[in-house]
Amino acid sequence: MSLPPLKIGKYEIQYPIVQGGMGVGISWENLAGTVSKHGGLGVVSSVGTGYRHPNYVKLKDGRPIGSTYIHSREALQRIIRDAKEIAGGEKAVIGVNILYAITDFGRVVRDSVEAGANIIIVGAGLPLTLPKYAPEEDV
Ligand SMILES: Cc1cc2nc3c(=O)[nH]c(=O)nc-3n(C[C@H](O)[C@H](O)[C@H](O)COP(=O)(O)O)c2cc1C
Repeated sequence: MSLPPLKIGKYEIQYPIVQGGMGVGISWENLAGTVSKHGGLGVVSSVGTGYRHPNYVKLKDGRPIGSTYIHSREALQRIIRDAKEIAGGEKAVIGVNILYAITDFGRVVRDSVEAGANIIIVGAGLPLTLPKYAPEEDV
């Protein structure tokens, strides 16, 4: 039995397998990049990225301070860049998981698009405002 490819917008994923975004430090660049490299859709979490790259953020008592640094733009950029590198380069398709319930949902959507996310998957809520934050995008 062969599995048909998964088509999402302009992207074609070789196998119809989507790796679920997992915060709490699980779906970073290594997992997502490896899944995409092998033909599935790898999804990085955008939540708590400051914990993945604490050197990019302001810390207090060893923890990122506030939403800006917990969900760090710079750390997310690095994670997406590294995931794509693992997956085979710039053209690799990488998804980003964003929790609707976080304080900075809109800002993190913008950060993700600007960092090169190809597909956005939203958890923890009904993302009615998503188009508002990425209106012109065809990601
Ligand atoms: C440890 C763990 C962490 C998860 N974290 C998130 C998350 O941050 N965001 C999200 O949308 N879903 C999260 N999920 C849900 C998964 O993305 C996925 O939708 C769910 O596990 C269903 O897929 P499965 O039946 O293959 O496990 C998490 C699941 C697990 C097991």
